[in-house]
Amino acid sequence: MSTKTEMISEYPPLTRVPRHVAIIMDGNGRWAQRRGLPRSAGHEAGTENLRRVIRGCVEFGVEILTIYAFSTENWGRPRWEVQALMRILEGVIDKELGELAAEGVQLRHIGVLDRLPGKLQDKVHRAIELTKNNTRLIVNIAFNYGGRDEIVHAVQAIIRDGIPAEEITETLINSYLYTAGLPDPDLIIRTSGELRVSNFLIWQGAYAEYYVCSTLWPDFDRDELRKALEHYARRERRFGKVSTPDLA
Ligand code: IPE
Ligand code: IPE
Ligand code: MG
Repeated sequence: MSTKTEMISEYPPLTRVPRHVAIIMDGNGRWAQRRGLPRSAGHEAGTENLRRVIRGCVEFGVEILTIYAFSTENWGRPRWEVQALMRILEGVIDKELGELAAEGVQLRHIGVLDRLPGKLQDKVHRAIELTKNNTRLIVNIAFNYGGRDEIVHAVQAIIRDGIPAEEITETLINSYLYTAGLPDPDLIIRTSGELRVSNFLIWQGAYAEYYVCSTLWPDFDRDELRKALEHYARRERRFGKVSTPDLA
């Protein structure tokens, strides 16, 4: 996959670009409530914004973008809000699929589709099929995704496959996760200021760099994305080691 982009950017090149960026898109409800609008208006505004962030990822050379759109715990929200979120996913596929496919975006899904309306499941499968050979940017949509659910699912599949205990390694577990074949996220961004993981990529994020900003998701634009990437470029990733070993 090419990490280069043909898009002209007015920003200077980044000294280091994360291959895989994951975003907890939070704060839609508060964005709407501050404007006296229903929470669903915040979710709508949040999807408009997604287009800008996808373009920004292409422009800045990110290879994989994983976005948290609906958690396994979000089923606990009022029925109308859950339905609104399903309708919004459907609307995004209906409205954006052609353009995303033309721009070279490969769409994938992580999580469990079974509980979604049949028509929506079909649309998701169709979008995945249509874009599967695209290589410009992989966009993984985490919808009905939970990190714990993912691990339970992996353990069940490993047992079902009759894999003996001594063959279970981190690499093997990785290959049973919804993200199998993808590198771990380098940078996890959470908007709206909440300092928690909320069951997102709990295995894969073991050594991710975290970036939290107070901006609510519908206001998170290309400049905000750029700021997050600049922070990342300045971080020292040690992975448990030391950067300047003593010579003693
Ligand atoms: C994030 O925005 C979108 C989803 C969880 C689906 P929220 O709906 O959580 O917005 P806040 O956190 O209530 O502001
Ligand atoms: C996390 O946000 C889930 C998504 C962004 C889809 P939530 O708003 O659901 O998380 P909590 O409840 O604040 O932890
Ligand atoms: Mg929230």
